[in-house]
Amino acid sequence: MSTTTGQAQHTIRRVLDEKRDMPGALLPILHTIQDALGHVPPEAVPEIAEALNLSRAEVHGVITYYHHFRSEAPQGAVVQVCRAEACQACGSDALWEHASQKTAGQHVTLEPVYCLGLCAAAPSMSINDKPYARVSPSKFDHLLAQLKEAA
Ligand code: FES
Repeated sequence: MSTTTGQAQHTIRRVLDEKRDMPGALLPILHTIQDALGHVPPEAVPEIAEALNLSRAEVHGVITYYHHFRSEAPQGAVVQVCRAEACQACGSDALWEHASQKTAGQHVTLEPVYCLGLCAAAPSMSINDKPYARVSPSKFDHLLAQLKEAA
């Protein structure tokens, strides 16, 4: 289990203070915390639940329902391969398998994502939120090599 640092606690409290009174505040809060910390620490769940007058199970349920949210800090660069329908129709299953093999043991967090808005140029992926279209296995290898060079 991860432990939130003082800085993370400060961030969580700031986000709750800013957004708790918004209509439908839960998703904006979760997005803002993940954008700031790279994940939603499990220790944040009770604080979020209390601030929004929800049960912990409700907050946990939303975090686990959406693939976007992660409870663990990512390791290294975050590589997301789109696995939604348009990309599947253009070979994203094979790209996912290729990416899984190429990133195994690397300092990279590989995640599925369900549409990056690049359906017309599928298959797509992102690296640290930068989108890439028409990604072939060889283009993936090229991008991964660039990532290693930049590290
Ligand atoms: S389905 Fe992959 S970008 Fe939309």
